[in-house]
Amino acid sequence: MKITVIGAGHVGATLAQRIVDNDLVKDLVLVDIVEGIPQGKALDMWESTPVLGSDCRVIGTNSYEETKDSDIVVITAGLPRKPGMSREDLLAKNVEIVKSVTKQAVEFSPNAILVVVSNPLDAMAWTALKVSGFEPHRVFGMAGVLDTARYRSFIALELNVSTKDIQALVLGGHGDSMVPLPRYTMVGGIPLTELLPQDRIDAIVERTRKGGGEIVSLLKTGSAYYATSAAIYEMVESIVKDKKRLLPGSAYLQGEYGFHDIYLGVPIKIGRTGVEKIFELRLTEEEKNALARSAGDVKRTIEKIKL
Ligand code: LAC
Repeated sequence: MKITVIGAGHVGATLAQRIVDNDLVKDLVLVDIVEGIPQGKALDMWESTPVLGSDCRVIGTNSYEETKDSDIVVITAGLPRKPGMSREDLLAKNVEIVKSVTKQAVEFSPNAILVVVSNPLDAMAWTALKVSGFEPHRVFGMAGVLDTARYRSFIALELNVSTKDIQALVLGGHGDSMVPLPRYTMVGGIPLTELLPQDRIDAIVERTRKGGGEIVSLLKTGSAYYATSAAIYEMVESIVKDKKRLLPGSAYLQGEYGFHDIYLGVPIKIGRTGVEKIFELRLTEEEKNALARSAGDVKRTIEKIKL
């Protein structure tokens, strides 16, 4: 299999490194518009393969010809946030970038699955779908695995237990109105609501919602990439190995949860053909309202996009 990662910034390069380190595929292409950066990073990674024992042939390039016939294209290109910015503040610039890279990528890889990571995430996945003309199951966004990972890591800190034993789900758009679901959060099979009082759960939910911003305000010059790339890797691996993981992902809704023509974080099954199923959960009134608020935010962002 062949994977293309567009954008050789922190997210794209760290993802590429994870793919090389894990010997996930034979061919990996790192693309960026900046001359030398994708070439340099890819060569450096390639030179790590004798030590790592990886056979992944990674190359870096500024052109899309080398990306020809990719099975998976991950779009990380775009500007990251600076402190004080919301993901929506990136819209105008990143729409143009995502439009341009999607057009070029799909011309050379008409059968690929597109995994979108650029922000504002759900709106960028929508843009990639419309520009590519692909079937919706071949275009999805990564956000929920990252948001859920943050949520799980905060719960583990609070309870002083292994992160491994925390199963959880964050729904909705990748913004401050995202919807962590304590009712669907288990710690070693025990519902979180049995283990923590409501005010501690509320504090964890709030920290999760602002989790991306917390990293931006610490780094000051960019946004998160270690947890981000780990989350993308998990989704990409599920495609490559046809693992059929059930993960939260930003998928195109056509009536599911009562929403239409929108990308929103929902539980999906990911396999060799992309999004193989969207799972619909029964939600309480309160959860439904929170999801509707989050969907409203995403919809307003999408409505500003001129394709
Ligand atoms: C985050 C940004 C990258 O959540 O959206 O870290």
